Amino acid sequence: MKRIRKAVFPVAGLGTRFLPATKAMPKEMLTVVDRPVIQHVVDEARAAGIEHLIFITGRNKHIIEDHFDKQFELEATLRGRNKLAELAALERDTPPAGGTSFTRQQEPLGLGHAVWCARDIVGNEPFALLLPDMLHLGVKPCLAEMIEAYEAKGGNHIGVYPVADDETHQYGIVDVAGSSDKVAKIARMVEKPAKGTAPSNLAISGRYILQPTIFDLLEKQERGAGGEIQLTDSMLELAKTEAFHAVRFDGRVYDTGSKLGFLSANVAYAMMRADIAPDFRKAITEILDLR
Ligand code: UTP
Repeated sequence: MKRIRKAVFPVAGLGTRFLPATKAMPKEMLTVVDRPVIQHVVDEARAAGIEHLIFITGRNKHIIEDHFDKQFELEATLRGRNKLAELAALERDTPPAGGTSFTRQQEPLGLGHAVWCARDIVGNEPFALLLPDMLHLGVKPCLAEMIEAYEAKGGNHIGVYPVADDETHQYGIVDVAGSSDKVAKIARMVEKPAKGTAPSNLAISGRYILQPTIFDLLEKQERGAGGEIQLTDSMLELAKTEAFHAVRFDGRVYDTGSKLGFLSANVAYAMMRADIAPDFRKAITEILDLR
């Protein structure tokens, strides 16, 4: 079985739900506490053992490439001012030389098209796909759990998490035999099922392990919902010939591409930080007048 070494991060979307913040600034660079959203997701991938990070970027996204590069002037200044802890933290966050690739999607034709743009860089091996606006906060990184499941079962894997029954119509939902199992074979996937028709309450969370056969299907994929090339359509096609498993994530998932998800993520991540949480709790208590 081939090891999962490469991860794809599609960051070419326009972020229209977050205008005007995203007019000049990519939504992936907005900060959750003091780290850009994309850095949190890269942290998750590196913690799961990913060696090569592939970013599908677009116009106005060059700042993401700069973020993952060395900044010599800044490093020299930190060294000169003896800010060695900050310097060490920057070095830890910078991927090793040759450990990143950037390619441009050119036109935002949909998530499926963005993933297809990675075909030559990924090559003929299974890979991880992480949607950078979806943050997963849990005891164990979501992707690490998924790679464990992949190593046990092979095939394709999709991260899922339970959502409220009356919200299933907003998500991609999977149909599995045992919905409380950590890993379960997927019988069916439905994109945004009509209210009351969802086969389960397990929503697709934005983490995938896919076989490279997906690229041939994406290449032939017609435009689907919203006139975009949809990843789900090609996954449904692939599911006819290859196994798909759902890996249940029991932490919390935040869609930072929405304002509510972004604000909630900031609160949740701040409360996980020993250096910030006590004072932040006081500040929030005051704002909400909870005393
Ligand atoms: P979203 O639909 O959440 O992102 O796509 P978006 O299009 O930027 O957001 P809104 O809806 O306009 O606010 C999920 C992920 O897929 C990427 C996005 O960058 C995001 O990380 N994506 C989407 C691409 O890379 N290319 C696309 O053509 C579409």
